[in-house]
Amino acid sequence: TRDRSEALRTPIVAVLGHVDHGKTSLLDKIRGSAVSEGEAGAITQHIGATAVPLDTISGIAGSLVDPDDFDLPGLLFIDTPGHHSFSTLRSRGGALADIAVLVVDVNDGFQPQTEEAIDILKRTGTPFIVAANKIDTTPGWNPQEGEPIQATYEAQSDRARSRLDENLYEIIGQLSDSGFSADLYWRVQDFQANVGVVPVSAVTGEGVPDLLTVLMGLSQRYMKDQMAIDVEGPGAGTVLEVKEEKGFGTTLDVVMYDGTVREGDEIVVGGMQEPIVTEVRALLQPKPLAEIRTEKRFDRVDSVAAAAGVKIAAPDLADAMAGAPVRVIRDRDREAVIADVESE
Ligand code: GTP
Ligand code: MG
Repeated sequence: TRDRSEALRTPIVAVLGHVDHGKTSLLDKIRGSAVSEGEAGAITQHIGATAVPLDTISGIAGSLVDPDDFDLPGLLFIDTPGHHSFSTLRSRGGALADIAVLVVDVNDGFQPQTEEAIDILKRTGTPFIVAANKIDTTPGWNPQEGEPIQATYEAQSDRARSRLDENLYEIIGQLSDSGFSADLYWRVQDFQANVGVVPVSAVTGEGVPDLLTVLMGLSQRYMKDQMAIDVEGPGAGTVLEVKEEKGFGTTLDVVMYDGTVREGDEIVVGGMQEPIVTEVRALLQPKPLAEIRTEKRFDRVDSVAAAAGVKIAAPDLADAMAGAPVRVIRDRDREAVIADVESE
């Protein structure tokens, strides 16, 4: 017997926004990790990927989420750099996304890479919500660790609340200037017509239950059809990074967005000169909640189904390129798959 969710893939959620607005910290809060603290100058320089299972999401969201309402297996978060010099990586992250979280520092509002992220989302037609982050820095704030936004609001003085509201309305106005009708998420009825703004703090975790609830709700409601894929079909993905791995030589960190890749599969990968045809020697999967970009320990697995981050070990990968497509050949025509990779 087959579980219903086996045919539904995990939605891919890109986290975009200006440098230092708190993208990695927000993911750290969700993962219970400290990836941001390990970064040189707290600057993210690569794309990351983290699988967050449904039980973790419902654990954080508490009473806001009933796991029985969902049959999507969780969310795959893609972290992107906000520093201006990494625009290629932001575009790549945006292109992978089914849905996005635009992180905006509630005090700073829109900044150049916020605008750039909005342009990427417009170009790719990716639906998104806004995480108005760092609400804990509002003067006079009374933090409510891990609480949903309503409980947090009720605990604030009138003065703190109106200061935050002013900042939130500023962001809503900036979204409007960029051509998006937006409002605080609890006032949004139709998320396809309006962008929902979720006030959050990556430090205190306030509003994070709401953020995850909105993301799951949107995915379930508007994207379920897109998520229904042939999970057994030949895999397709994008290379995030080409890395040396002890005992495995050159490996690829890949985000798989379709089908399955298995050990022994013949794959085609975009290379510097021409497509590389090789055979998967090992598949190394980070544990749930681990960031593939920084993780040192991996589980060796026989196969990986989309959507997921996976490290692929195979011969002849020295010329593989970050950003290149990866395709499993399996029962498809080899030359056609090679031509596909070449044209991408
Ligand atoms: P890039 O990846 O380089 O674009 O930055 P980022 O958006 O990932 O920002 P990061 O998570 O590294 O956070 C930048 C700084 O802001 C760090 O010092 C964080 O501790 C701080 N920070 C992030 N979120 C919050 C928040 O909600 N409240 C407060 N007070 N500080 C925060
Ligand atoms: Mg970061």
